[in-house]
Amino acid sequence: MAKIKTQYVCQKCGYSSSRYLGKCPNCGSWNSLVEEVQQSAASKPGAWLANSAKYQRPQLISEVSLQQNPRIQTASPELNRVLGGGIVPGSLVLIGGDPGIGKSTLLMQVSGQLASSKKVLYVSGEESALQIKLRAKRLAVSHDQFYLYPETNMQLIKKAAVDVRPDFMVIDSVQTMQEPDMQTAVGSVSQIREVTAELMQLAKSQGITIFIVGHVTKGGAIAGPKILEHMVDTVLYFEGDLHHAYRILRAVKNRFGSTNEIGIFEMKENGLQEVLNPSEIFLEERLKGATGSAVVASLEGTRPILVEVQSLVTPTAFGNAKRTTTGLDHNRVSLIMAVLEKRAGLLLQNQDAYFKAAGGVKLDEPAIDLGLAVSIVSSYRDQETQASDCFIGELGLTGEIRRVNRIDSRVAEAAKLGFKRVFIPKNNFGGWQLPTEIKVIPVVTLNQVLKLVFGK
Ligand code: TYD
Ligand code: MG
Repeated sequence: MAKIKTQYVCQKCGYSSSRYLGKCPNCGSWNSLVEEVQQSAASKPGAWLANSAKYQRPQLISEVSLQQNPRIQTASPELNRVLGGGIVPGSLVLIGGDPGIGKSTLLMQVSGQLASSKKVLYVSGEESALQIKLRAKRLAVSHDQFYLYPETNMQLIKKAAVDVRPDFMVIDSVQTMQEPDMQTAVGSVSQIREVTAELMQLAKSQGITIFIVGHVTKGGAIAGPKILEHMVDTVLYFEGDLHHAYRILRAVKNRFGSTNEIGIFEMKENGLQEVLNPSEIFLEERLKGATGSAVVASLEGTRPILVEVQSLVTPTAFGNAKRTTTGLDHNRVSLIMAVLEKRAGLLLQNQDAYFKAAGGVKLDEPAIDLGLAVSIVSSYRDQETQASDCFIGELGLTGEIRRVNRIDSRVAEAAKLGFKRVFIPKNNFGGWQLPTEIKVIPVVTLNQVLKLVFGK
């Protein structure tokens, strides 16, 4: 009898070792190595070639037809855009997100829409058929060719896929699925890797589009090995504040489209609804004549979105000054505060400062620097900003306002939403069509902006 080989695999990063180690030498986490039984290799050398799918000769690139696989449009324009213009048949899409954020709801709705013209197989390892049915009823999804399969065994799921021959399949979630031939626990790194590899095989060989739900860890990354994200074609994150109704679907990897594209949804009684004019929702709760508030135009993927950024600067009561950010990058804020100290003469080191991007959105783009700086100055000096001003520009370390990309679409969005003035970097001025309904003010330095906005 062949000896059973075991190895120790880090559950955080997938590092494997032949002996137990208390600390993973690869990622440095403690007690993360778990003993796993290795799969036995194929009995005869070369046997795999006989069993595996037929050999196909490499193709000339000129022979590959583009017309073969037209994208499938879902009924959701937001999802279509995030996917880069619809679903690519035979692709593998991973959706990660916090529990309760609406991953199952989104996929149930998409499945329902697709089931009117395509065959859909919805595999759930988390809910029973009855629970899924209840949800489907609530979401009023169509049932024409909608197959349910509450199962976690990968062998059976593969059998079902061959049996039903769906065009579109949902796996909810990869962490609950199990390859019975493997001796390791459900949800372990090696299980997730194996299950995903099998799903990829299924997607590519049968031409089935598979959406995989992935749980996320406390840190916000998809649970399982990092390689998971490399294996699939597209990685989407569904995020948002559980206390807000708005949900943001973000592409972080996409083999068939641009990343950082976002889709915005609102969670309602009867499921997720598209938000067609996102700038409006990120501005709707803005107070007129408030201090510490400014509107920035951030480019999310191909689409500019106007968002209110807020600062609150107050004297530190005791000890070290505190800085807290929500939806904004901590380092970016620190840098802007340092520039304000040095170039605009603000004394911020003995001030607590809190920052927030409104509506639960996450902003990380240099073009929001100028607006953020204006909001800090406004709060520090207790001087209000004009509600009809919008700010676009990256802040350099010498206090200069630097050029940003796609200025025309940002300014157009501000004009569309009725802003009266928009401050833009001087270097971005000219060479494109200026809208007439908004005053475009080119600026060179931060101090120049502060003078124009606050009078000093
Ligand atoms: P769900 O899709 O189960 O989240 P996930 O699969 O990401 O864990 O969403 C659950 C939440 O959504 C739950 O708090 C209830 C809410 N919800 C609605 O508000 N309206 C609805 O129509 C549905 C189906 C869910
Ligand atoms: Mg779910």
